[in-house]
Amino acid sequence: MAAGSDAGESGSFSCAKCGKQAHLQCPKCVELKLPREGAAFCSQECFKASWSTHKSVHLKAKVSHPGDNPGEPKAGSTKDGWLYCLRKGQSRTPKLPHFDWTGSLRPYPISKQRLVPGHIDLPDWAIDGIPKIEPNSDLQHHVEIKTPEQIERMRETCRLSREVLDAAARVIRPGITTDEIDAVVHEATIAAGGYPSPLNYHFFPKSCCTSVNEVICHGIPDARKLEDGDIVNVDISVYYKGVHGDLNETFFVGNVDEASRRLVQCTYECLEKAIAIVKPGVRFREVGEVINRHASMSGFSVVKSYCGHGIGELFHCAPNIPHYSRNKAVGVMKAGQTFTIEPMINSGVWRDRMWPDGWTAVTADGKRSAQFEHTLLVTETGVEVLTARLPSSPDVLPWLSSS
Ligand code: MF3
Ligand code: CO
Repeated sequence: MAAGSDAGESGSFSCAKCGKQAHLQCPKCVELKLPREGAAFCSQECFKASWSTHKSVHLKAKVSHPGDNPGEPKAGSTKDGWLYCLRKGQSRTPKLPHFDWTGSLRPYPISKQRLVPGHIDLPDWAIDGIPKIEPNSDLQHHVEIKTPEQIERMRETCRLSREVLDAAARVIRPGITTDEIDAVVHEATIAAGGYPSPLNYHFFPKSCCTSVNEVICHGIPDARKLEDGDIVNVDISVYYKGVHGDLNETFFVGNVDEASRRLVQCTYECLEKAIAIVKPGVRFREVGEVINRHASMSGFSVVKSYCGHGIGELFHCAPNIPHYSRNKAVGVMKAGQTFTIEPMINSGVWRDRMWPDGWTAVTADGKRSAQFEHTLLVTETGVEVLTARLPSSPDVLPWLSSS
């Protein structure tokens, strides 16, 4: 956390950890207007050391003010509190930011942050937006071999993630806003006892990513209604029993043109072909060769800025898995590793640009992009797709239908 706010005002308090004179005030407590007492610290060290116990104060405060949560915006309700998202560190704005938009899509206002009940186990960024364990972990450099016990938890969490994505898929239709999809994702996740991993991850403001048309990835759910002919990717990550699951699919909204249907199906096939080579001994760099071959054969291009990643107790860790050819990914697959493959395929150029919100990656030429993602486990003989479709999964990918 970037602490250090309100140093002057906290002078008369003693450090909640060691009792010395306090110079720092927990910024979250300041924001929530919580009592200064017990929220003042002499140093970053004491603040960090107290964090695991101190943070629960914020949550109780949040949960005891459920009126702050707009929940699902009702038709005709005023959009009080809905603002455009700006890059982290900047405040939100009521005006559409200026930008050289690459296509016809624009950002819409976003609703207030959704609340998580007190009994849900939180990842370390949930309160202050800053992952603390993840960036400093050895597992950014070494690929972990999961224990049977970790693998069992990954299976459970990935299955839950799949059920949440399926719940989102069932409500997609022209007229629904991506914020309403986010509400479904949020409610389904917490109802199952999970935490929606994206929520407040590096200050990401919502519980899933929704990426429409020319959005490549990390689109923020907002007040825009999906239109007939759109394509929309919903990217779900869940934290449950101490581990993360991660998957996404791209859906058709109403009647979609032939070119977009080919793009989306090709992207699905790219992921399937990549999964098919996964087994012990295969180089991570091979994944990109397989994906690039299939995409370029169909006249499409492969995004380079976003990659597959290791996953487990950390949301994002080693290995890094590019989806493009001639990449420099290091290492070979071993049984017990878990990682994602999540190719983003563009109908035009591969190059991406970032919206002023600091999250939304769009195609540089404004043409459409599609993505599919699974969390995978390398087994002794090949691969287990931890986020695989279930018999209960809705029939929303037409090329999989037998009829
Ligand atoms: N599932 C996304 C990924 O693996 C992460 C979304 S969380 C966000 O890239 F906060 F980064 F948006
Ligand atoms: Co991912």
